This record gives sequence, C-alpha cells and structure tokens, in this order.
Amino acid sequence: MAWMLRIEAPVLFEVGGNLVLLDREGEEIARHGLAELGAWLHWLPRGQYRLVLRGLAGHAAKVRLELSARDGRAWIGTSSTLHALPEAEAAQPLSLAWSGQPDPAALPYRRGLQDWFHRHFDHAALVIGEYLLKDSPLLSGRILDLGCGDGITDLGLFWRWRPELLVGIDPFAGFERLPAILAERGLPASLLAPGLVFLRADGNFLPFREDSFDVVVSWGSLEHIAGGHHQAMVEIRRVLKPDGLLFAHPGLYYSNLGHHLGEFSDEPFVHLKRSREALRELVLSTTPRYIDRAGEFASPAQYWQWFEELNPITVASFEQELRALDFEPWRVALRTEPVIEYTPELLRYSMQDLATAELYVACFNRKRRPPGR
Ligand SMILES: C[S@@+](CC[C@H](N)C(=O)[O-])C[C@H]1O[C@@H](n2cnc3c(N)ncnc32)[C@H](O)[C@@H]1O
Repeated sequence: MAWMLRIEAPVLFEVGGNLVLLDREGEEIARHGLAELGAWLHWLPRGQYRLVLRGLAGHAAKVRLELSARDGRAWIGTSSTLHALPEAEAAQPLSLAWSGQPDPAALPYRRGLQDWFHRHFDHAALVIGEYLLKDSPLLSGRILDLGCGDGITDLGLFWRWRPELLVGIDPFAGFERLPAILAERGLPASLLAPGLVFLRADGNFLPFREDSFDVVVSWGSLEHIAGGHHQAMVEIRRVLKPDGLLFAHPGLYYSNLGHHLGEFSDEPFVHLKRSREALRELVLSTTPRYIDRAGEFASPAQYWQWFEELNPITVASFEQELRALDFEPWRVALRTEPVIEYTPELLRYSMQDLATAELYVACFNRKRRPPGR
C-alpha cells in the first residue's frame, strides 16, 4: 500500500505523524508514530514523494495515515481516508519507507551531525532559534547574522522562523557558494528567497543604521575577527534595537577545539602544548585531512593565518564584555569536557577555561540604560 505526497513549499520540517490501525468495524486498535516506524524526517524539500507500507501486525483490517509537518513554525497536517488492507499484507512485520525526488534516503541528515549541511541547516538553526532564543517573537522581525560563512544556518533560520528579513554578512563571501551547495544536494533554488539577503561586509563596520535589527546572531565567528572582536560587539550593540536579542556562540580559545586545527592533529589541546614555532611547522608541513565543510578547501598557509588571527575568548572575558556593553544575559548554555587530563604544559591554564568546550548565550540589548545602573 502506498500514499503519494506532493510538497509545494520550498521545505517542510519535522515530517511525521501516525499510522492508525483499525479493525473491520473501524475501531482503532493501534497507533504507531512515524518515528517509531523509522519514517520520521527532519525535513523534506519541495518534491513528489511516496510512502510505502508493508506488512501489518495484529488484527488490523483498515489503515489510515495521519501526516503532520511544520511549515515554518505552523503545524500542518493531512489525514488519508480509510484503506482496506489486502489479506496478503498481514504476514510481514510492519514497515514504512519513503521514496521520491529528491530521494529522502539521500538527504543530508541521513549522515547525522557529521554532515556539514545538516549540522548548520538543522542543528545550528534549532540551537539558535529554539534552544537559546526560545522561539522569541522577535525572530519574525529583522535578523542579522554576523560572520555567516556559507549561509547554510541562515537558510535554516529563515525557513523555520520566516523573518521579515534575514541578512547574513561576511567579508569573505562564503555565501556565494550557497546556490551550488543547494544544487549538489538536490534542494530547490527557491530556498534562496527574496527576504534572505547576503552581503559582503566587515563585522567591524556594519553597513546599517542604528536600531536596524530585532535579533543579531553570530555562530563561531567572533573569534575569527582579525585584530579583535570588540569593535564588532560595539557595532552589534549599535545596529540592534533596544531590547533586541543577541545570540552568540564564540569559539573558546582555551578549549580542546579552540585551535580550529582538527585537519592537522587529534592531540587534545595541541595549541596549548606546543610552542608557536612547533605548531606552525606542524600545520605547514602536514597535508590536511579535509573534513566536510560543504566544499570549502583551504591551504595549510591559510589555516595557519586563521589560527594566528584567533581571538582568545573565554567565558569570563566574554561575559565581562557583554555586561560592559549593556547586554543582559537571558539564557546561557555551556558544554563541558568529561574530564581534563593535565600534562605539565596545561598546568598554567584555568581549569574552567580548559574544561569548557562551548558557550551559547542569549542576551537582551539594554543599551538605553545608563552604564552602571
Ligand atoms: C568558522 S566560520 C563560521 C561561519 C558560519 N557562521 C558557520 O557557522 O558556518 C568564521 C567566519 O567568520 C568570518 N569572519 C572573519 N572575519 C570577519 C569579520 N571581520 N567580520 C565578519 N565576519 C568575519 C569568516 O569569513 C568566516 O566565514
């Protein structure tokens, strides 16, 4: 037995629902979630799909499929009429499988969080909008992403929260690869909608008037602003409306991953253990083990430059900066290492800095308040 599903929207999220089994009289005898049957999908782009049911457990004579999905933040649903089941299907165990174009079995999330597109389109967007910003109504307003890179996270934010405007800025314009990234994954070009704008611009000099945005986000970028991120923070404060929200996820320099040199070494805290010269030698003489970065490849010399430009952000210093600029913490999440094994080189560093792997923070911009109050 099969159901056809045509998706006209550029993308739907959290595609799931229930398979309802009924007896000859039409009384419900069981209900199975699509997740339980392995048929729940993180998202489905525009396309034509088929959902095939095989087998049946128990005494079901009829079956109904209730599908639900998120179109932006709104839930939508459909329910099929009752289908009588052919006798022969009763022998096999129950299973549901999707097929279609693009092939749901080949969509990026099938590879889990190691897939770069999925990690940004789904995971990062949800961490920002749902986990930290808690579905704030401000997300339907005007959003700025400072240091947006390839823009995949912005795509996820845009299609989940449907803001009036989302602007991603980056001086190195990685977002120019976005149309190719979509095409390579069989995703519709219509995901690049008019309200989603990318600009080549420097976070230190934002080309916007003051109070232009309801929300500013920055994921893994503040640590990369050469010469320090303070000026960019001042700019964020300026362009963010009073009582607007800032989400920041700055890389923590003294953490295990703080070096961003995973392509060259697996040694924990390699950047704190080796001398600058030894580290430079390691980077420049090693062939990088490129990880999936949605098609971005850089030379060892470029990696070394990025390492040298890193800002040594810590949780304590970042909190101090936020407060000094009148950002009021609203929600914070830290990820810590299970345990730190000291070696002599690590003894000089703060326990807290070594053990804190990641920082996610949401703050209100209270810039009207005179400093010190
Ligand atoms: C590790 S990437 C993160 C990109 C993206 N947010 C993501 O999660 O994939 C760091 C980004 O910071 C950007 N960056 C470096 N200097 C910057 C500056 N002065 N202003 C804004 N962004 C900057 C880089 O171009 C790069 O795209």
